[in-house]
Amino acid sequence: MVEESDDINVGLLGLGVVGGGVATALLEQSDDISRKVGRRVKLKKILVRDAAKPRDPGIAASLITTNPEEILADPGIHILAEVIGGTDPATRFLKDALAAGKHVVTANKEVLAKSGPELMSLAKQNGVSLLFEASVGGGIPIVGCLMNQLLANDIQSVHGIINGTTNYILTRMAQAHTSFTQALQEAQELGYAEADPTNDIEGIDAGYKLAILASLAFHRRVNPEDIFLQGISSLEAKDFQYAQELGYAIKPLAIASMSNGAVQARVHPALIPLGHMLAKVDGVYNAVEVTGSLCGNVLFHGMGAGREPTTSAVLGDLIEAGRRLVSHPNGSSPPMSWPPENGSSEETIGVSSIDGLQSKYYLRLNVSDQPGVLAQIAKILGDGNISIASVIQKDADPDNQSAELVIITHPALEASVQESLRKVVELNVVKEVNNLLRIEE
Ligand code: NAP
Ligand code: HSE
Repeated sequence: MVEESDDINVGLLGLGVVGGGVATALLEQSDDISRKVGRRVKLKKILVRDAAKPRDPGIAASLITTNPEEILADPGIHILAEVIGGTDPATRFLKDALAAGKHVVTANKEVLAKSGPELMSLAKQNGVSLLFEASVGGGIPIVGCLMNQLLANDIQSVHGIINGTTNYILTRMAQAHTSFTQALQEAQELGYAEADPTNDIEGIDAGYKLAILASLAFHRRVNPEDIFLQGISSLEAKDFQYAQELGYAIKPLAIASMSNGAVQARVHPALIPLGHMLAKVDGVYNAVEVTGSLCGNVLFHGMGAGREPTTSAVLGDLIEAGRRLVSHPNGSSPPMSWPPENGSSEETIGVSSIDGLQSKYYLRLNVSDQPGVLAQIAKILGDGNISIASVIQKDADPDNQSAELVIITHPALEASVQESLRKVVELNVVKEVNNLLRIEE
């Protein structure tokens, strides 16, 4: 509860890439933020893990604590902003804050994807808001649009690029021939990557974000564990070269679609035609296309990670939470929902297995450079009802008597492709299946 004469006090959990941006903005743009809220907004305390770490000199040491209770148990703190990441202790902190009647703003996609419905129920019970615009798409306002402006639609699909780190890495590998390791290091230095970058590289971060977007789009909970994930670590410089020669770019895609009551949700790198709009989304940029019954195709595009864009999203939510405090000082905030319209917010919708996917495929194989190899591979693929659209032989290595085959298929069933590749690998003439990528037209 906040009295009319009270300042609105913010407790910030985390002072890293995002927290540093949020703290600086709250301190340096305090007048502007307060004017937008309609009441003075003050940063009261900041939780960090390591009190000895050097901090921005603009942030007074008296603001910093390592004791979460100085924020969670302080009734004078009205809004909690969580930017520490991970599930533990973040989930506990969020629950404690909501139970104590604090509005909560978070950038934590992992917690939202895993415990969103539970946290939302807790927020409702306590008459406070749980706002999480920064959890998906950095500075792109996609969460709010799905929760509000696009609500009138039956959403058929949400797809695009929703991880800045992997898009940055693939862009650097494709355009500057930067090594994977170097490109990852750059993404980390720029503040794009998760604390454990495996989450980015293996598609886990995009999986959490897709679970959030799909839950909001389809009004039923989509469980992150049900989403198919393939990371980008199998990609090599030659994949970008061959893709380019074939007229494609390689992009880290996340795709969720609803058809006949079944949801398909997958995260993987894919070949997309060079002329496709998503092929031109480079670096840290994200783009999400939403297809709805009334709105048709709506495209969201912007910086998907990094201090400033994410600060924009967190601050927007902080201002919104402040306004709700001003308009509902006794704590009954406007209803928020996840998913919005059916009774149980825990209701989960199953995700179809990737086995049923129909797609074109790019296959790169290392084979013996001898007559009859292609015929043996083509026979297995043909038996699996997989029709070959084109084959290119690449990089013959006379010393090892090996060559590389790049095969593009016509649309085929994922389960058949996987099963056929298992048989292909067993051929004596096949040394390795180096890559399998889906092609999205
Ligand atoms: P970060 O740079 O690693 O910062 C994490 C901050 O949290 C640090 O200040 C750290 O304290 C503090 N912290 C971590 N664990 C703590 C604990 N157990 N107790 C107290 N403090 C703890 O992370 P970030 O990049 O800012 O990301 C934060 C969150 O925002 C994550 O959920 C991330 O997924 C999300 N996000 C990040 C971006 C981005 O571009 N970076 C974009 C959107 C969303 P010390 O400073 O003492 O180590
Ligand atoms: N690691 C995330 C990314 C941060 O690269 O997209 C933004 O959520």
